[in-house]
Amino acid sequence: MSIQNRRLLKIIVIGDSGVGKTSLMSQYVNKKFIHLHRATIGADFLTKEVQLDGKLATLQIWDTAGQERFHSLGAAFYRGADCCVLVFDVNLLRSFETLQNWHEEFLKQADPANPETFPFVLIGNKVDINGGSCRAISEKVVREWCASRGNIPYFETSAKENVNVDYAFISIARIAHAYN
Ligand code: GTP
Ligand code: MG
Repeated sequence: MSIQNRRLLKIIVIGDSGVGKTSLMSQYVNKKFIHLHRATIGADFLTKEVQLDGKLATLQIWDTAGQERFHSLGAAFYRGADCCVLVFDVNLLRSFETLQNWHEEFLKQADPANPETFPFVLIGNKVDINGGSCRAISEKVVREWCASRGNIPYFETSAKENVNVDYAFISIARIAHAYN
């Protein structure tokens, strides 16, 4: 099939600086873990071909900057998204507390036709740190947060140890595909 006939799915990845957005994408698309934190500036995307219902689709995954001063640059790319992935660090309470802001800001900027049904996915990253013994937020609290916002699907990952990363992204692809 020519690339023109393939379904293009636009995925936006947002969340605080340092939670591991770039690392998750790099692990999923390039099978590489980046040890250094080099803050993303503005926004950039990676693509990955996936099989959905026996057909090839192209995931266009947008990596955005978590740092406050770059927010306006990232938001310009929110429109036309098929799914928004919210990322936080399970060891950092603040990165969980800011999710509400990210969620609201996304809906405001992306302005989807039906905000009630627009698909979000939540990722709690860095579950590898100290074997999970310094977690700041329990899975139960996260699941309650998701339930109160229309049952947002939740995945716990480690970009470092490559735990659950492929599974999370293929689930995201399916969710984006089912939207529209
Ligand atoms: P901004 O681009 O500034 O928004 O940050 P980001 O969310 O893209 O974070 P990035 O992927 O650059 O990761 C920040 C730091 O966390 C880096 O030093 C990564 O190596 C580290 N990191 C990312 N994911 C994991 C993980 O699953 N486990 C551990 N231990 N470290 C991680
Ligand atoms: Mg980044």
